Amino acid sequence: MKTKILMVCLGNICRSPLAEGILKSMIDLDKFEVSSAGTGGWHVGSLPDPRSIAVAAKNGIDITDQRGKQFSEYDFEIYDHIFVMDNSNYRDVIKRANSQDEINKVQRILDELFPGENVDVPDPYYGGDSGFDDVFDMLNKACEKIVSRL
Ligand code: 4NP
Repeated sequence: MKTKILMVCLGNICRSPLAEGILKSMIDLDKFEVSSAGTGGWHVGSLPDPRSIAVAAKNGIDITDQRGKQFSEYDFEIYDHIFVMDNSNYRDVIKRANSQDEINKVQRILDELFPGENVDVPDPYYGGDSGFDDVFDMLNKACEKIVSRL
């Protein structure tokens, strides 16, 4: 059975699609399944934000096969690891959990780089393109850690 990993942000168009694409580009997909979702439902069925598509493409990763999904409590039954992008996502996800085991599946993705510091991946949605480069770099480093650890 594959280990299943879910990346979660608010809209599932900027940060978590990048995290999904980056991790998929690094990890053995015979052993792992990687997906992403948003805590909000505004972008269900949508392509990732054009700025995320562009920064991924610039780094050799195609994320245009992705479509927006909304996180649901059933995802706790499907996924082994749920990586959230920020503290707000963390609260929104764990309030849907039904057990401590489910809560234990949830981790802030930047805990991989800054354990115990509760650091957010900043939401680049309202900023300029450089925000997307910064987010790409952070997620790239965090995903390298995930690959070496799992
Ligand atoms: P994301 O960014 O959580 O990184 O996908 C956002 C995208 C859209 C919205 C919020 C955050 N929105 O409110 O539509």
